[in-house]
Amino acid sequence: MDSLALYIHWPFCLAKCPYCDFNSHVRDRIPQARFRAALRRELAWEAERLGHRRLTSIFFGGGTPSLMEPDTVADLIADAKRLFKPADDLEITLEANPTSVEAAHLTAFREAGVNRVSIGVQSLDPSALQMLGRQHSAAQATAALEMARATFPRISFDLIYARPAQTLEAWRAELRQALDLAADHLSLYQLTIEAGTRFATLHQRGEIVLPDEDTAAELYVATAEEAVRYGLLPYEVSNYAKPGSESRHNLTYWRYGDYAGVGPGAHGRLTLAGDLVATRRHRAPEVWAERVQQHGHGTTEETALHSVERAREMLLMGLRLAEGVDAQRFLARTGMELPEAVDTGILEQAIEEGYIDWNKRTLTATDSGRLRLDALLAALVL
Ligand SMILES: C[S@@+](CC[C@H](N)C(=O)[O-])C[C@H]1O[C@@H](n2cnc3c(N)ncnc32)[C@H](O)[C@@H]1O
Ligand code: SF4
Repeated sequence: MDSLALYIHWPFCLAKCPYCDFNSHVRDRIPQARFRAALRRELAWEAERLGHRRLTSIFFGGGTPSLMEPDTVADLIADAKRLFKPADDLEITLEANPTSVEAAHLTAFREAGVNRVSIGVQSLDPSALQMLGRQHSAAQATAALEMARATFPRISFDLIYARPAQTLEAWRAELRQALDLAADHLSLYQLTIEAGTRFATLHQRGEIVLPDEDTAAELYVATAEEAVRYGLLPYEVSNYAKPGSESRHNLTYWRYGDYAGVGPGAHGRLTLAGDLVATRRHRAPEVWAERVQQHGHGTTEETALHSVERAREMLLMGLRLAEGVDAQRFLARTGMELPEAVDTGILEQAIEEGYIDWNKRTLTATDSGRLRLDALLAALVL
């Protein structure tokens, strides 16, 4: 596991979206210089102990990383390239929100070295954008996409569906409109209600009602049908790509490779002195920055994962992928044979019911298995 993916978290947003439980914060003035220095310092600290490993991807996530000053992005990319051994095809993704301010910075991000953007469109329906509390219009989203297409070799965008009262017909129409915008990658998420969000309160009061399970399943199947018609294949539960355009960075997570997480609340999984170590940074931006200033890093937790934990994590991640989990890699990464990590009775039943395929080399959730993946994993994984 010599290869490494690097995640860098930018924790600030213009406003807090009512559905979102990501580590994102709103400030009157974003302390750009302080956070640039802190991110660079924590990256250097992490690199020091990791050594000169092969770097396959960098992902600027958030929060809203398109609110970073482009020079900060350029500095971090230059640092990472110097501190690690960059792969020839190093993928550098930045999440961008489509407000006009951020769209104006796209060219500067490209010049900084970003070669892939992931745009948070969320919907092309004006009333849905309002319901989701977004700071941009549908027209701004399409304009940002057009601009991104002219600027970056690879683009992706996110949509949220299975929204309250959304019909199958309306979603198909919206998705076709989105697919016409010609990205090479799409992330299509069903709306989930996350604890502690504004939507959680509204949901509890009955003011937000999500589609029932059958409708959600119909929407999911229709989503894959539409994407496939446009040549985007479902390679993960919520992700669709033209062959070869899959997110390399996210594939590292799902294949359970090593990744370093830098910035407030960032997680990592790192091979260090033969152990696989889970790392987590402090979530509160200012506390994290203070700790970095004092100690060089803002780590709050660092735990070596034992075999059973690794096996569990690798299955939870890998079964999201259409390619499934490779038994040899599983043994190498966890020290366990794959069949030892699952409930044998449930496995046999799931194979019989057509939810799982197992050919002794790869364990895969079938299309219908991925449709009910949470329930399947809860029963299957020990
Ligand atoms: C880190 S977040 C947001 C990135 C960027 N700041 C934005 O808003 O576009 C990544 C994606 O997760 C999805 N997401 C966040 N909360 C969600 C929820 N409760 N249900 C479904 N999708 C969600 C959104 O599509 C979002 O673009
Ligand atoms: S969805 Fe994006 S913009 Fe909205 S609060 Fe979450 S991270 Fe920020």
